[in-house]
Amino acid sequence: MRILVTGGAGFIGSNFVRRTLEDAYPGLEGADVVVYDALTYSGNLANLAPVAGNPRYSFVHGDIRDRALLEQVLPTIDTVVHFAAESHVDRSVRDAGPFVDTNVVGTQRLLDASLTAGVQRFLHVSTDEVYGSIAEGSWDETRPLEPNSPYSASKAGSDLLARSYFRTHGMNLSITRCSNNYGPYHFPEKVIPLFVTNLIDDKHVPLYGSGENIRDWLHVDDHTRGIALVLEGGRAGEIYNIGGGTELSNRQLTQLLLDATGKDWSYVDEAPDRKGHDLRYSVDIGKIRSELGYEPRVPFEQGLADVVQWYRDNRAWWEPLTARAALA
Ligand SMILES: NC(=O)c1ccc[n+]([C@@H]2O[C@H](COP(=O)([O-])OP(=O)(O)OC[C@H]3O[C@@H](n4cnc5c(N)ncnc54)[C@H](O)[C@@H]3O)[C@@H](O)[C@H]2O)c1
Repeated sequence: MRILVTGGAGFIGSNFVRRTLEDAYPGLEGADVVVYDALTYSGNLANLAPVAGNPRYSFVHGDIRDRALLEQVLPTIDTVVHFAAESHVDRSVRDAGPFVDTNVVGTQRLLDASLTAGVQRFLHVSTDEVYGSIAEGSWDETRPLEPNSPYSASKAGSDLLARSYFRTHGMNLSITRCSNNYGPYHFPEKVIPLFVTNLIDDKHVPLYGSGENIRDWLHVDDHTRGIALVLEGGRAGEIYNIGGGTELSNRQLTQLLLDATGKDWSYVDEAPDRKGHDLRYSVDIGKIRSELGYEPRVPFEQGLADVVQWYRDNRAWWEPLTARAALA
């Protein structure tokens, strides 16, 4: 089997690539992996350094909007796992253009080229943010989409386009909608790596608004294992939520990160709230649990402690990126 992983040089895509090449996923053992990535500010070949010498791995420096290049690459591919996206909500508030270009237009070109090339299986990686904010309870996959940020609206566009390629063309395609991920190799503009890297360097951290916004946290290993389960056993045309079951307000998360780094609230600066900041996301994972036997495995306390240690041990990985995050 040959799997094309778009966005495979990013945080979650590279985790999926490393794990696949370790043969961590039943059904994908021995697969060849082609990473297709434009290497934007958040794409980083250092994330793939552990597999760079693996004969089953290859890299194509390409943009998902580049139809001609996709047409060259896709005919040798059996399966596409589509992670590539503009992924940072704050950037979409400042400038939504690249989000529509990559997430909507890029996904449409990738779907079209995959259809033409006769790709046998396609997995589209979406997000719980497409549902919008929920005050109480949890969404299941039938919940209508009410995205609130330009990021989530562009992801909803790509999610619905993916669905349409199943409905219209019968593509063998499934969609996953996942909650907030954390783990190693996470670009240090996102809240957990930003706070950890600042705090271990004795720098202050910005807490948006009241800090009451609630997110469900999932270790990236659990996300990519869920993706592999859906890829292998998920039904065509179906959507699967993936969540971790650890809901925390940003204030609670900040307390845990202060504890983990031996700092106190004097390191926390109040920052103006993000425009349109969703109060709470929460996904119901009953479907992936009952159909595919999925359970999150990494306990949050352990996962967070490991991540803090990883950033302590891997300064050479993140230090160049903090400058890139500031400039991009
Ligand atoms: N991070 C989360 O918590 C989370 C949660 C749910 C879903 N997701 C989704 O998972 C996917 C991966 O997220 P991430 O956190 O790893 O993001 P990331 O920003 O770390 O990685 C994105 C990757 O896509 C590449 N890319 C961007 N534009 C491209 C283009 N036009 N052509 C080819 N490659 C391009 C980048 O170079 C980068 O390697 C995204 O689709 C995101 O919406 C993320």
